Amino acid sequence: MFPVRPLADTVIVALFVCLPAGLAVGAGCSDGGGETHDDPGKTGSGDARTGWVADVEAPLPVWLSETGIYADGTGTVPGPGAIVYVPTHPLWSNGADKERLLFMPPDARITPEDDPAEPWAFPVGTVLVKSFSLDDVDGRTGAVKIETRILARRSAGWLYALYHWNADGTEAALARADWRATPLRLMDAAGTTFEYTLPGRLECRGCHEAPGPTPVLGIARWQVPAELTDVFSRPPAPADVGAFARTPAETEALGYFVGNCAYCHNGRDTSENAAFSLEPPDAVGNTVEQETDSSASGVGVRVVPGDPEGSAVFEAVVLARAADYPGDLKPMPPLGIDRVDPRAAQALRRWILELGETDAP
Ligand code: HEC
Ligand code: HEC
Repeated sequence: MFPVRPLADTVIVALFVCLPAGLAVGAGCSDGGGETHDDPGKTGSGDARTGWVADVEAPLPVWLSETGIYADGTGTVPGPGAIVYVPTHPLWSNGADKERLLFMPPDARITPEDDPAEPWAFPVGTVLVKSFSLDDVDGRTGAVKIETRILARRSAGWLYALYHWNADGTEAALARADWRATPLRLMDAAGTTFEYTLPGRLECRGCHEAPGPTPVLGIARWQVPAELTDVFSRPPAPADVGAFARTPAETEALGYFVGNCAYCHNGRDTSENAAFSLEPPDAVGNTVEQETDSSASGVGVRVVPGDPEGSAVFEAVVLARAADYPGDLKPMPPLGIDRVDPRAAQALRRWILELGETDAP
């Protein structure tokens, strides 16, 4: 543990951990690397925050550089007071690198709940930020920032916002309040163009307001990042995915469900087929040799031990995204994702094959 230190130093600690020299933010803090941050979860006394993040009731500035989220125009240095974190089980989003920042009013704390049905309380003034970058696109090298998403707790409720970065990566502009999903055409290093969709406000809410306790999905039960130690009013109850798994392959599959499925599939919305829970205690029992709901978009058995291609879960996550997919299942997750997650495909395949082995658990 560090002794009490001024906040500015804390931010620098986070930067050193996340940013190998010469890399832009996003590359250094990507999901896949499994980095741990040394001790960025400190808040300290006094208020280091500047700009809009220190006054979320004010209208959002048109330019991201005026929000206080980053200390520089290019979004390389998190703004004063930023806490950098990575959720335990990140959402896979078309292979983009993501950087997440948390800003909180001085001395404010998040109150976790032990009861899964109870919302975690985020104090008014909490700002959560997620910036997406892609490597080597549109003729630029390294991490190219595409969009910065914001969730902020105002006294009247949660605010959603999106800033879209300009082609030089020097500034990002606020999308207007009722913005819609916007497809972009980007070019990869080989000169091939591909589509990348900036989600609209409805898509944000489709995921973040799926029936769960709060719209915050990455600082939640099953998701508490180890580096966030001092932001809670009391330690969250331990929630270890591995405790519900019998093998490493099963742990990986259950972790994937937490990050990518269980914010909809959590048993809370009984009017939808997403009602079947994929939360760690339920996921195995609700999938292995279980038929899809009669009203689902496709008929099948969710997991057939030993047969990935014959399993509706694998079909929905992997096969249903192919242009020539002959089946009826909707691709999962149904929003915000344009491409198959190769790590999910591998993890699900491994788990389902293992379930079919004669000495499987
Ligand atoms: C496909 C579902 C999906 C869509 C669409 C989506 N999000 Fe998220 N978002 C998530 C998940 C899951 C997390 C937590 C896991 C992670 O960060 O990888 C998250 C994390 C975040 C975070 C960090 C705080 C948190 O909740 O953990 C912010 C900020 C955010 N999203 C804002 C937005 C905004 C604004 C939009 C719309 C422009 C949006 N998101 C669209 C699923 C989605
Ligand atoms: C944004 C909310 C949302 C997310 C995220 C989501 N689903 Fe779904 N899912 C639904 C809805 C709504 C349905 C019902 C529509 C249908 O049957 O196609 C559904 C249906 C399904 C079905 C078929 C119905 C059944 O009874 O089995 C499967 C399988 C499934 N989801 C698996 C997944 C998996 C695996 C993930 C994570 C990769 C996932 N879903 C993520 C909302 C979601």
